[in-house]
Amino acid sequence: MPMQGESMASPTAVAAKKRPGSRPPKPVKKTGPAAARWVVYSAPKGGTGKTTSCKNTAVAAARDGMRVATLDFDPQRTLGQWHELRRPHDVARIDHFEGSLEDAGAALAQIAPDAYDVVFVDTPPSVELFPEATKILLRRADLVLVPTGVGRFDKMSVIPWMEFLRDYGRPAAFLLNRVKRRSVSLREAKLELGRIGRLVPHEVPDIEDMHRVDDIGCSIVDVGAVNGADECLGAWYFVRHELGL
Ligand SMILES: Nc1ncnc2c1ncn2[C@@H]1O[C@H](COP(=O)(O)OP(=O)(O)OP(=O)(O)O)[C@@H](O)[C@H]1O
Ligand SMILES: [Mg+2]
Repeated sequence: MPMQGESMASPTAVAAKKRPGSRPPKPVKKTGPAAARWVVYSAPKGGTGKTTSCKNTAVAAARDGMRVATLDFDPQRTLGQWHELRRPHDVARIDHFEGSLEDAGAALAQIAPDAYDVVFVDTPPSVELFPEATKILLRRADLVLVPTGVGRFDKMSVIPWMEFLRDYGRPAAFLLNRVKRRSVSLREAKLELGRIGRLVPHEVPDIEDMHRVDDIGCSIVDVGAVNGADECLGAWYFVRHELGL
């Protein structure tokens, strides 16, 4: 029932408003050069899947037609080594950059903002030990993804990190990685982490193929139709919506 003073819309007016299958109106496009959106992967703990998730989403974005760059802040250069193995004629294009947390500003400045749609940034573990550089990086981030496993110590590491990101005013989400589908530990982790922050609604399973495609500089998303590729693609769609792309 309408409240007093409200008029009831006619059935035709309602139907005109909400036709099944009708598309929502296109938003007016912004003018001027589009600035790249920045996605930063970070988690204090080592080995949670920062580099793996970074490359998988970067490949998904590039295959989706985006102009993609990756930027590696890890002196281990895992992402850089993987990029060197990529065969540019066979796979979607990704331009790669490297930088040091000791001069985060210079590392970011290498990338022309109108040359890319998305820049995916990989970071080493324990970024909290470089608070100034990390803040420079986080201020640039349009989205921070926090990859994590479901174990007790994974959660103990990422929960305070997510709280810091929230207090610092950065949009962020947990990305559950190396999960066992339909396990109790996954269900519990989703509840525990979901109380603190948002979750990417696609969890990436623990899969053997994740390593095997590294040998040829590929991601499982390049290969497609392998276990786990859909979840990585789903994670990219989440990112794309978050970035408004
Ligand atoms: N979903 C997955 N399934 C199987 N193996 C995975 C998965 N995600 C990551 N790995 C493997 O786990 C190891 C650690 O992953 P990765 O290097 O992405 O973590 P990281 O957070 O970047 O580590 P670091 O903190 O050392 O930089 C790698 O050998 C990687 O291939
Ligand atoms: Mg790494």
